[in-house]
Amino acid sequence: MTGPVAADIAAGGLAADAPLPRHPRFVSLEGGEGAGKTTVLNALREALLHTGAEVVSTREPGGTPLAEQIRELLLHPGDEKPSAETELLLMFAARAQHVRGTILPALERGAWVISDRFTDSSYAYQGGGRGLDPAFIAELERRVVGLRPGLTLLLDLGVAQGRERTRGRDLVFGQTPDRIERERDDFFEQVRRAFLARARAEPERVRVVDASQPAQAVADDAVAILRLFMARSAAEQAS
Ligand SMILES: Nc1ncnc2c1ncn2[C@@H]1O[C@H](COP(=O)(O)OP(=O)(O)OP(=O)(O)O)[C@@H](O)[C@H]1O
Ligand SMILES: [Mg+2]
Repeated sequence: MTGPVAADIAAGGLAADAPLPRHPRFVSLEGGEGAGKTTVLNALREALLHTGAEVVSTREPGGTPLAEQIRELLLHPGDEKPSAETELLLMFAARAQHVRGTILPALERGAWVISDRFTDSSYAYQGGGRGLDPAFIAELERRVVGLRPGLTLLLDLGVAQGRERTRGRDLVFGQTPDRIERERDDFFEQVRRAFLARARAEPERVRVVDASQPAQAVADDAVAILRLFMARSAAEQAS
């Protein structure tokens, strides 16, 4: 992706019929709670740093100081429950800031960007989980975000197993579950189904990793997929 696309985004979005560009140095990690996104992000980061690349690791919601403040509103809103629409728009408000303040500047200076969650999470949580119209989400994505990762790793894990893992971690670190983590199992089943539908719709970009394996095997699979993706991108550039 080159300069004009960033300019299009800054100007308020791409033309209605333009497909969203995928950036070959932008990788996102997706999956439910406790699937191992943060663990895999660290493995990918190490693999990329070994190639001598600059790597920017980031997360959603968040990734800039203002977007992190919006994260706080989303996850710890106090006594007032945000509506599904409020949640969706705050997610995209944070993402608008994240894309312009962190992701595009890093990509434009030649760095790799690895994001712990990105727009696929909105389709899964606010679309699948909360039942909001995916066409509306797509419109926000087109107007507000304007790009997709070149590669998305979907860490797929059963809901019960994900809960076990976050419980283990929260016990160790003394954390309490945030507002979204406190949702019921059927919500997370819908989220999982929506993520898998994203992978079926865009199998070349969204690669499913079996996250029920031991951590090292998950990390090895993820790094192998990244290396193949890099080799393919390099071959495409050369041709
Ligand atoms: N493959 C694995 N097998 C067993 N435990 C794992 C595995 N991957 C990660 N864990 C552990 O499970 C917990 C959750 O992992 P991690 O924080 O990476 O998941 P996450 O997807 O980032 O979760 P969250 O959505 O809450 O941010 C951590 O304690 C981590 O050490
Ligand atoms: Mg995490």
